[in-house]
Amino acid sequence: MNTHKVNFTLRPWNLDDLDNLVKFANNKKIADNLTDAFPHPYSREDGIAYITAWNPDSLHQPGSVFAVETDGIACGSIGIFPQTDVYRKNAEMGYWLAEEYWGRGIMTEAVKRTIEYGFKTFDISRIFARSFSTNLASQRVLEKAGMKLEAKLEKSIIKNGLYLDEFIYSIIEP
Ligand SMILES: CC(C)(COP(=O)(O)OP(=O)(O)OC[C@H]1O[C@@H](n2cnc3c(N)ncnc32)[C@H](O)[C@@H]1OP(=O)(O)O)[C@@H](O)C(=O)NCCC(=O)NCCS
Repeated sequence: MNTHKVNFTLRPWNLDDLDNLVKFANNKKIADNLTDAFPHPYSREDGIAYITAWNPDSLHQPGSVFAVETDGIACGSIGIFPQTDVYRKNAEMGYWLAEEYWGRGIMTEAVKRTIEYGFKTFDISRIFARSFSTNLASQRVLEKAGMKLEAKLEKSIIKNGLYLDEFIYSIIEP
């Protein structure tokens, strides 16, 4: 159990964060645990596209993606994405944190806050997250945040040329 004080805010990304976003996101240890939509190497163009795509002012809808800010620095990202059609009462959550901030309990707390925000903000009754079977840190985060392991999908992922199982965690609105 970590003993660090968890001190951070969640707020929208903006272009002033670009240098930090690119510096922290350009990390194979992060990319290896995310879908291939997360680029590696991570370029300035990738950062600009990400920040502008999720600008809450241009989306005219409640925010879905937030920077994790610690000591005035955007050092990670967490998103909650409402689904469509028969899945419209669900939202998927995803996240990453800069490597130098790992192990302080930041993402566990960020997931808890995002769950609370999601149920309060969107018309949803279930939040879920997917983890590669190999990603023990993320599975621990989801467990500590109160989500339950719901399914293990055998060999559903191919990442870096290797088949992986996918673990699905969820929480139903209390
Ligand atoms: C997963 C990630 C977000 C965790 O963020 P974090 O702020 O370090 O997480 P926390 O400190 O809140 O909790 C991490 C927990 O995992 C545990 N952990 C870390 N590495 C582990 C490992 N290899 N095996 C088992 N447990 C591990 C920690 O000990 C801690 O649990 P504890 O509090 O019981 O000791 C971060 O590692 C990351 O960004 N990884 C790359 C991207 C990623 O995996 N995103 C999620 C995709 S589903």
